[in-house]
Amino acid sequence: MGNKLIKWLDERLAITTLWRVLMAEYYLPKNINWLWSSGVLTILVFVILVVSGIFVLMYYKPDAKLAFDSVNKTIMMDVSFGWVFRHVHAVGASIMFLVLFIHMGRGIYYGSYKAPREILWVTGFILFVLMSATAFTGYLLPWGQMSYWAAQTITTLFSKIPVIGPDLVIWIRGNYIVEDATLTRFFALHVTLLPALIVVFTVIHLYALRIVGSNNEDGIPMTKEEKKEKGIPFWPVFISKEFFVMSVFLFFFFYLVFFNYKFAMDPINFEPANYLQTPPHIYPEWYFLSFYEVLRGFFFSETLGLIGFVLSMVIPLFLPWLDTSPYPFISAKHRPLFRIAFWVFVADFVALTILGKLPPTGLFAWLGFIASLVYFGFFLALPIISKIEKKQAASGGVR
Ligand code: HEM
Repeated sequence: MGNKLIKWLDERLAITTLWRVLMAEYYLPKNINWLWSSGVLTILVFVILVVSGIFVLMYYKPDAKLAFDSVNKTIMMDVSFGWVFRHVHAVGASIMFLVLFIHMGRGIYYGSYKAPREILWVTGFILFVLMSATAFTGYLLPWGQMSYWAAQTITTLFSKIPVIGPDLVIWIRGNYIVEDATLTRFFALHVTLLPALIVVFTVIHLYALRIVGSNNEDGIPMTKEEKKEKGIPFWPVFISKEFFVMSVFLFFFFYLVFFNYKFAMDPINFEPANYLQTPPHIYPEWYFLSFYEVLRGFFFSETLGLIGFVLSMVIPLFLPWLDTSPYPFISAKHRPLFRIAFWVFVADFVALTILGKLPPTGLFAWLGFIASLVYFGFFLALPIISKIEKKQAASGGVR
């Protein structure tokens, strides 16, 4: 019966050929570690977000007068297990960025953005922007104090754009201030266009990956034939390892959901939005703090801060063109200079995240400024490191 069905489907959809090409005869290099599971974990968290999102959506009311109660009363208290779905969704959003930062960090460390993987990197970057927009629009929906003032602060930044800024900000908000119209348009984007675009770009991202194949710890370019000879098949070997990693991850995830969810829910957001009362400190969720700190880092000039903020988010896109070292200078494992720069960058990113939550005064303001400069310093040092490594590669003085 099963065989007959497969034969019937095969004649119409070529499913066995598809299975062979996509799963059984797709080989990965042997020298990849658990960090190569970060991509699958990103897909897993996205699925968790969509499923939990659909359930909270059943009771959520996208109306400025009703939104706060629909979340904090109906979903959290009245609906059976509503609080579980809300915790899953909030923790999921936070963990999505943790997984994404690991995924991007892995890509940077092992030089996975280098030719021929530029399109893979660019589509990944677009996914990061889409994910950030989804998190930002979603954060307004509970209509709490921090939701409201974060949206008010960030949308105000658009007003600084020359000529079109003041009109643009009104267009985004649908009003002069963040209001009911802002809530409904953020809601529409959060539940329709942005997730749909994430799905589309994930498909393009994976297609690009299948064309060029996975990188490896040593950054050694491998042909399909070499991988077939020395690699591991995606099905059943690699996928069984992925299931193990996913199980461990889910254990950790649900531990956070049930016992340690507070990091994903700001206490100030349990107060309803109030147009007339600004909270003493306005700060975004932890995953945006580093970029927010760059905005504040140039404390002596609002314009420089804004330019720095936009650049800090955009500059990773250009990695494939800033870092042009040839083979064997692909993976940081074989690049001592780059390795130092990478770890300084990681430490700096953590420092920016910590500083982003502290008041931007006195010593903290100066530390924020220095950390912002170091952030850009990493990207600007790459062409210099590339030049040195190109010389080393040309003189054959490597490894
Ligand atoms: C929704 C977001 C994303 C999803 C679902 C996703 C999914 C995946 C998957 C499944 C893989 C293959 C497994 C692996 O190598 O980990 C992969 C590889 C890759 N992704 Fe992503 N990704 C996302 C975001 C990003 C971002 C933000 C970047 C960087 C800006 C990025 C860059 C890459 C690169 C360079 C590879 C190839 C890695 C290698 O072969 O060494 N991805 N992605």
